[in-house]
Amino acid sequence: MSALIEIRDMYKIYNPGENEVYALDGVSLTIEEGEFVAVIGHSGSGKSTLMNMMGCLDTPTEGTYLLNGRDVSGLTDNELSDIRNEEIGFIFQGFNLIANLDALANVELPLIYRGIDRHTRREVAAESLELVGLGERMRHKPAQMSGGQQQRVAVARAIAARPPVILADEPTGNLDSRSTEEILGILKELHRSGRTVIVITHDSEIAAQAERVIRIKDGRITEDYKNSVQEGTERC
Ligand SMILES: Nc1ncnc2c1ncn2[C@@H]1O[C@H](COP(=O)(O)OP(=O)(O)O)[C@@H](O)[C@H]1O
Ligand SMILES: [Mg+2]
Repeated sequence: MSALIEIRDMYKIYNPGENEVYALDGVSLTIEEGEFVAVIGHSGSGKSTLMNMMGCLDTPTEGTYLLNGRDVSGLTDNELSDIRNEEIGFIFQGFNLIANLDALANVELPLIYRGIDRHTRREVAAESLELVGLGERMRHKPAQMSGGQQQRVAVARAIAARPPVILADEPTGNLDSRSTEEILGILKELHRSGRTVIVITHDSEIAAQAERVIRIKDGRITEDYKNSVQEGTERC
């Protein structure tokens, strides 16, 4: 069986020439199905660039990327957009919900892109919202919900189409500590139920909850270790 994510010798160079920035400077990385991974590093270390690559939101300057066994390194924008719909559920720091749609309609969006019929869409979206504890808030619009609730809607949207990968960039960056706990609890629950969860964060407390931690600095992986819940941190 091939890995879910396999990145080999990846480079992303912004502004080639005089002011060039190696946002990714030779990254190789394998993530298996079912892992819960935190990617950590200071601001400017290349976390979002790596997330954009893993999420097929951007293409590398050099290197290869196999997602779910398929080489996506050289695909066109349209092809990447199809891959994103099929393979990835995104969660962003700013929730990125559509303001004039209620929770249910927001969660239905990725299902529409997948061509799922109206009835099934409703059912699946409602189930996803129940799963994140928002069964009573389905008809609320984003502005009628707290930040934590909005992020839970975004999680429901990310998981609704059951994509193989859930990718979150600073998902708790705009949340208070209570909502942060809630979102973390949901991500851990998703992992326990077999989903692959990748969280990009600069928060070491969040990283401590993940199963595996990858540290990135100046576009390079400097640490890659497993957290062990009972015995503290075990380096490998
Ligand atoms: N579109 C861009 N153009 C030029 N430089 C960029 C661009 N995006 C990011 N960078 C630079 O690449 C480096 C990594 O950025 P980023 O991946 O956003 O880091 P992080 O998410 O860890 O804060 C930084 O030096 C940043 O300034
Ligand atoms: Mg970032």
